[in-house]
Amino acid sequence: MSQATLIDGKATAARVCGRIGEFVAILSGRKPGLAVVLVGEDPASQVYVRNKKRSTEEVGMFSIEHKLPAETSETDLLALVQQLNADSSVDGILVQLPLPKHLNSNLVVNTIDPGKDVDGFHVVNAGKLAVGDPTALVPCTPFGCLVLLRDLGKSLSGQEAVVVGRSNIVGKPMAALLLSQSCTVTIAHSRTKNLAATCRGADILVAAVGRSEMIPGGWVKPGATVIDVGINRIETESGKTQLVGDVHFDSAVQVAGAITPVPGGVGPMTIAMLLQNTLRTFCIREGVAEPEPTLLGVPC
Ligand code: GUN
Repeated sequence: MSQATLIDGKATAARVCGRIGEFVAILSGRKPGLAVVLVGEDPASQVYVRNKKRSTEEVGMFSIEHKLPAETSETDLLALVQQLNADSSVDGILVQLPLPKHLNSNLVVNTIDPGKDVDGFHVVNAGKLAVGDPTALVPCTPFGCLVLLRDLGKSLSGQEAVVVGRSNIVGKPMAALLLSQSCTVTIAHSRTKNLAATCRGADILVAAVGRSEMIPGGWVKPGATVIDVGINRIETESGKTQLVGDVHFDSAVQVAGAITPVPGGVGPMTIAMLLQNTLRTFCIREGVAEPEPTLLGVPC
């Protein structure tokens, strides 16, 4: 069996970031500003926040970082969010999740000005996406997955899409985006009765469950497009840590038509789309035309 086309998320992300950087470079006034708030010392979150800051600065945007101790009170965190809402140099606000257990994530996220909600997690943006409102700010990971799918150049209309995972961050918005592209969409999850058969029916299979290599090649329809959102750390027999997806890559690559590798597939797109969302909120706030990609029917 021939091998699938590898979907190069790193290259696509570099292209998106390159375009953003060119746009930012010729701005005559202030630069777009992204504020990232990190509470506590979760090691994975620290890495994500560091990467976001570096990428923000690489495209010429203004990066503001707030690192708060794990024991920060909800009152203090909400006050910081409100201060950032009122700060005219801030176009995007991102509160890194997960938050320590004593903090109410929903309350914190829904305190962010929806017009600065570059994660697209605020109920106003989630609701807009659900009803197909083109002014929605769309969560970065599913947005990135859609850009990769559109980039393949094949029409998505009428395709059978199966999203495995029902999180508010990936699964649900991914399903809404695929629906906006006229796919026939199924959301599968841990309670789905015949997950293997459901996956085998997919022309487009998006895996977002957070379980290492749980989808084997035998669940992939020959020629299907496989988008693997999982980033799982496993220990190899030699004791080294390795990143793997939610799909068993070595078997799936034999069957799929196109597949994202881990790392180098969806991962780099998440930050690229965060910067795209920040550029978008900047353009709306400044009243200037936004460069592509945009969404919901418009090229992306
Ligand atoms: N934690 C893991 N992924 C994300 C993300 O996309 N945004 C935020 N804010 N936190 C996360």
